[in-house]
Amino acid sequence: MDLQGQVILITGASSGIGMAAARLLGPSKADLVLAARSEGRLRQLAQEIEARGGSALPVTADFAREEGIDRAFEVIRCTYGHLDVLVNSAGLGVYDLVRDGKTQDWRRMMDLNLFGLMYAGQQALRLMLPQKRGHIINVSSVAGGLGRVRGDEVGREWLQRHPTPGGLQG
Ligand SMILES: NC(=O)c1ccc[n+]([C@@H]2O[C@H](COP(=O)([O-])OP(=O)(O)OC[C@H]3O[C@@H](n4cnc5c(N)ncnc54)[C@H](OP(=O)(O)O)[C@@H]3O)[C@@H](O)[C@H]2O)c1
Repeated sequence: MDLQGQVILITGASSGIGMAAARLLGPSKADLVLAARSEGRLRQLAQEIEARGGSALPVTADFAREEGIDRAFEVIRCTYGHLDVLVNSAGLGVYDLVRDGKTQDWRRMMDLNLFGLMYAGQQALRLMLPQKRGHIINVSSVAGGLGRVRGDEVGREWLQRHPTPGGLQG
């Protein structure tokens, strides 16, 4: 796959699905922007990708906060001037039963999994709409869908843990 000239922002690139996506896209010649909070892990991944001939820019940013997202997009605007793909893979899950859950944990999840994802999408749209092209890929969990269908306690717990699909569909 030759994606030369395409700028791809991957959030949650320091681990898991985001990191795997970055490694897969490394050889595509796209300009990868790797975002998360763990600076050292992002740097290491960027070096690994560049050592194999790819292009990767690590950007340390908290995607649960508008300021962090704004900063990441400012880096993209200043460095490349455009964005072709946003992969929203930053996410977190707190695995409590609903009856034992803490509201601060629910807020942390909502701030990242839903509001951060939507705000990053909004910033991406502002770059993509004028250029009349772009893709936004939101990584979430099928467990969110199961939570909507099931009405028992387990179902409601899953919805709480995976607010992205339910929130976006809502
Ligand atoms: N793994 C699975 O089997 C699976 C299945 C279905 C769906 N999912 C969903 O896919 C998404 C990613 O899962 P994963 O398994 O890749 O998770 P993971 O390995 O825990 O990775 C989460 C990523 O999000 C980043 N992150 C967390 N808080 C952040 C913040 N405030 N700002 C910026 N980045 C932040 C983490 O980096 P830092 O800590 O460095 O910031 C990390 O890179 C989640 O939404 C998850 O629910 C996962």
